[in-house]
Amino acid sequence: MDYYLRKYPDPVLRQKAKPVLELDDDIAIIEENMRRILKEEGGVGLAAPQVGVSKRLLLVRMDPLSKDDKEDVRLFINPEITEADGEKVIEEGCLSVTGISAEVKRFGSIRLQAKNTEWDVLELSATDLLAVVFQHEIDHLDGILFVDRLSPAKKVLLSAKLKKLKKEWKS
Ligand code: CO
Repeated sequence: MDYYLRKYPDPVLRQKAKPVLELDDDIAIIEENMRRILKEEGGVGLAAPQVGVSKRLLLVRMDPLSKDDKEDVRLFINPEITEADGEKVIEEGCLSVTGISAEVKRFGSIRLQAKNTEWDVLELSATDLLAVVFQHEIDHLDGILFVDRLSPAKKVLLSAKLKKLKKEWKS
């Protein structure tokens, strides 16, 4: 399989991703490719559907604003938000939706449960930007893009840009 960054309106971005049932070589290969693509594209997080794999896996840069080369990028398997509270509005973009950014209203703090690459269950809390990154990436696992979360008025404003992306994707 050829792993590359999938862009709107690629249908894989709209599928509900399947849970990972066991750690096998496939997962290691997917992780390697996700790490490569995240590094090349310079994002703060990446979900497996964005590289064409409909599985519940995501990579997150734990310090999203860090400029450090040795940044802490972790893989989360079958992540689930177990608690959510507060509100945070940040201007979001997405590697899969080129050239569009908009403010999205999200929870300001979350608790998350997932498995790590040792297949241990881990729990963690995140606030502000990191909480937003997790919510954005977990949305990808459910086939949701940040542009879906905008108000109807904002969607209208962006509709021409989205149409353009659709046209470019087909050609
Ligand atoms: Co995204």
